Amino acid sequence: MAITEQQRRQYLHAMGIEVWQQRADKSSESVNPESTLPLSVDEEPPPAENRWRILEQQVSRCQACVLCEQRTQSVLGVGSRQANWMIIGEAPGADEDRQGEPFVGRAGQLLNAMLFAAGFARPDVYICNIVKCRPPQNRDPRAEEVAHCATYLQQQIEWVQPELILAVGRIAAQQLLQSTEPVGRLRGKVHQWGEKEISLVVTYHPAYLLRSPREKRKAWDDLKLALSVCSTTVKEHDD
Ligand code: URA
Repeated sequence: MAITEQQRRQYLHAMGIEVWQQRADKSSESVNPESTLPLSVDEEPPPAENRWRILEQQVSRCQACVLCEQRTQSVLGVGSRQANWMIIGEAPGADEDRQGEPFVGRAGQLLNAMLFAAGFARPDVYICNIVKCRPPQNRDPRAEEVAHCATYLQQQIEWVQPELILAVGRIAAQQLLQSTEPVGRLRGKVHQWGEKEISLVVTYHPAYLLRSPREKRKAWDDLKLALSVCSTTVKEHDD
């Protein structure tokens, strides 16, 4: 999906930000290669496709914690599995539980605006959550729920191999960094995640930004920090 300069400015405006820095045009890179893969029906899917399908099935049948009891469906993730940016939020909410896709509600709209402002279309990045099923009444996920989903998330990160993880909100930031510090103290620096030391930047959750729009400026600073670490969108993959 190509983003026009005008759209970019509109999204920045929606974020409450009127300043824009000139960046290289990424419109030619913003096609999700998987959506154009010419697979015929009787063709063996490539191994990467298989393992994602298996993971999707495992998660959809998962009964490891109580969250399975009230879910409409599990929500694994969406976007390019070749993405350089991986966005990790907390857990599906009501809209996500209904649609089976992360960040599709109001917070998701703002997340999309933030990504557009940074030069990405939604399909350019991979978006998922710490836990894959909706906690009732949108309560915080419990430690045991996070622990059960950790293996799924680990797989997702290892397979996508992003250059950058953007942890949105307290739950994602604290869980990924194994920290109890608030977002305000974790943001503003580049952390490393896992053995491969993937760069990780923390920012505010878009739901929080909807309640506290004055913090959008800081969120924009976080995105600029993330861009400074990793400035390309879709990377080359063998599988
Ligand atoms: N909030 C999240 O953290 N994740 C979603 O998918 C939706 C809202």
